[in-house]
Amino acid sequence: MSGLLLAIETSCDETAAAVISDAYDVRSSVVASQIDLHASFGGVVPELASRAHVETITAVIDRALAQAAVTGSDLSAVAVTCGPGLVGALLVGIATAKSLALAWGIPIVSVNHLEGHLASVFLAGDDVPFPQTSLLVSGGHCMLTRSPSVGHHQLLGETVDDSIGEAYDKVARYFGLGYPGGPVLDRLAGSGDDVLHFPRPMLGDGYAFSFSGLKTAVVNYARADPAFVIEDVAASFVAACMDVLCAKILRALEEFGDPAVAIVGGVAASPILRRRAQAVVDAFGSCLLIPPQSMATDNAAMIGIAGWQKLAALGASRMDFGPQPDLRLAFI
Ligand code: KG4
Ligand code: ZN
Repeated sequence: MSGLLLAIETSCDETAAAVISDAYDVRSSVVASQIDLHASFGGVVPELASRAHVETITAVIDRALAQAAVTGSDLSAVAVTCGPGLVGALLVGIATAKSLALAWGIPIVSVNHLEGHLASVFLAGDDVPFPQTSLLVSGGHCMLTRSPSVGHHQLLGETVDDSIGEAYDKVARYFGLGYPGGPVLDRLAGSGDDVLHFPRPMLGDGYAFSFSGLKTAVVNYARADPAFVIEDVAASFVAACMDVLCAKILRALEEFGDPAVAIVGGVAASPILRRRAQAVVDAFGSCLLIPPQSMATDNAAMIGIAGWQKLAALGASRMDFGPQPDLRLAFI
């Protein structure tokens, strides 16, 4: 199959649509963020998210089609996120995608959101070497994988408790810094110093991660010392996270020596992570691939690329799939 595909993503708090060619050319990518809606709650409220997707999705798809200057008759397929994510939010995207595929008489392909994040590496540049070591760091996940070839993944390790984005968001919520916590903590960290020596959980522990204890250490410190300097708290928290992430990347490079390291997921938008990881990967003579900021956080372009890859490997999906809130990555 070739041509253009419409991709739809509604797994959490972004309503997104994109038109992608089979050569992974992004003809349009529209993201309507619900951040303002959830900010005062310090996290995503599932029912509000579903309702906002219903209200926004038609306009977002219209805009994606208009920006790509196409109509339904120009499209070869529809791709949609089927999980993991919030069940009501996923349902909105899936029902919309099925309706459009039926109305336009074209195939549909269901996409694992995590496959989408991993596929976003193809938005990092034209040359994407394999085998690849990938660090997937998002609001819902933190895992290190190896991909011997496109779409084939092995799990090296993952978090045993909170994801890293969750830790950022919970720390930010404790300090009343709003949601999402990543960008604001990153910004504050830039004006502070790593002087508080928070723990580096599981630093020497294979490829597993843990962030729950670090989050608690930060909160306990602030409770015990009300005169804390928020910039130093942020810098010390971010430094602890970065030390752990970079240690695991280095361990994988030393063990496997892959020519490319990919960092994907919302936390890959962090300029601090980009800078720290670049130093590790450069020292090893490998190449670092990170999608642009707008393609690191949730978007539909990455779902479109994973959609093309799944269509090529497995063909179209049956029409009877539904949301899979706890969907995991398939590992070889
Ligand atoms: O991939 P994503 O958009 O959604 C999920 O699939 O979870 O990731 C969202 C996460 C949030 O936890 C947010 O705090 C974090 O990505 N994030 C960042 C930055 N921008 C977003 N974390 C650190 N630095 C950033 N600049
Ligand atoms: Zn995501």
